[in-house]
Amino acid sequence: MENTVNIKDYLLKEQQAGQDIDANLISLIEDVSAACKEIHTAINHGALYGVLGSAESENIQGETQKKLDVMSNEMFIRHTEKSGTLAGMASEEEEDVYSIPPQYKKGPYLMYFDPLDGSSNIDVNITVGSIFSIVRCPEGVTDPKLADYLIPGTEQICAGFCLYGPSTLMIITTGNGVQGFTLDPGSNEFKLTHKNMMIPEDTAEFAVNMSNQRFWEKPVQRYVQECIDGVTGARDKNFNMRWVASMVGEVYRILTRGGIFMYPFDTKDPAKAGKLRLMYEANPMSFIVEQAGGLSSTGRERIMELKPKEIHQRVPVILGSTNEVKRVDSYHQ
Ligand code: AHG
Ligand code: MN
Ligand code: MN
Repeated sequence: MENTVNIKDYLLKEQQAGQDIDANLISLIEDVSAACKEIHTAINHGALYGVLGSAESENIQGETQKKLDVMSNEMFIRHTEKSGTLAGMASEEEEDVYSIPPQYKKGPYLMYFDPLDGSSNIDVNITVGSIFSIVRCPEGVTDPKLADYLIPGTEQICAGFCLYGPSTLMIITTGNGVQGFTLDPGSNEFKLTHKNMMIPEDTAEFAVNMSNQRFWEKPVQRYVQECIDGVTGARDKNFNMRWVASMVGEVYRILTRGGIFMYPFDTKDPAKAGKLRLMYEANPMSFIVEQAGGLSSTGRERIMELKPKEIHQRVPVILGSTNEVKRVDSYHQ
């Protein structure tokens, strides 16, 4: 029967097929999907629930928080801290790593998350999402400190994102391909609708915030100029451009029909290596993109191989269709 497999059914099937998925991981992913359903409901009701607009506070990155940034962060924590699956977590909206309160049991995993990605889009009713990444807590560590969280993306055992768009979708990888589940409003369950998503190797669509053009390095300037030149230039082919300003939206489009997404290094603020954050944006999206046959790089290195130095560290991101990412990398050499 079509569309009857929910996230738990899928994970149990993978477990039976010999994938390294234990009961704690299944329970944690279920908790994350419960949080995402609650975020979905808040976003869906928007002004009716009074959830739009600014929270009039700043996060550690100096960004003004939206009410929904704060609420989504609380929903993620509340749904995942109790079940004994996590040793700790780190969020875009938390300055320090989050310790599991003493009244709850601790578990074997660490989770990094961006509770609401693309939050500049909330008040204008454009797609936003939530991103998460799960790794094993280092052996013997029961009370993880900041240094214990600095684990490269290659160690991820699960990554996913929920997209609050015209449909609400959960995209998940546990290292055996990428699966997409659509939230069925009738049953309030995520049902498997997009099996083994694969990114086409070639594309004629690029996504970049063109207003930063003057701050980019030469290799990115060259690549984008060649796309714009179309059939009259070196590429001998016309390109289309998109910019949703929600990484979740861009990555979902790329999973669906290919493309390249870039938030490259720029000199706008020399203190920042890029805009996107390694642990809860770039790493999980890289894992998903690579599992779907694409590539993800800084232009110089594979993102998932970077050795993290800080929990809120920023990185340049260039990801998507293999042949285009390879081309941008080659321009950096
Ligand atoms: P967040 O809302 O979690 O801070 O992330 C926003 C990110 C990302 O989703 C998007 O690709 C990018 O910021 C958009 O940046 P611009 O506003 O520079 O277009
Ligand atoms: Mn984000
Ligand atoms: Mn965010």
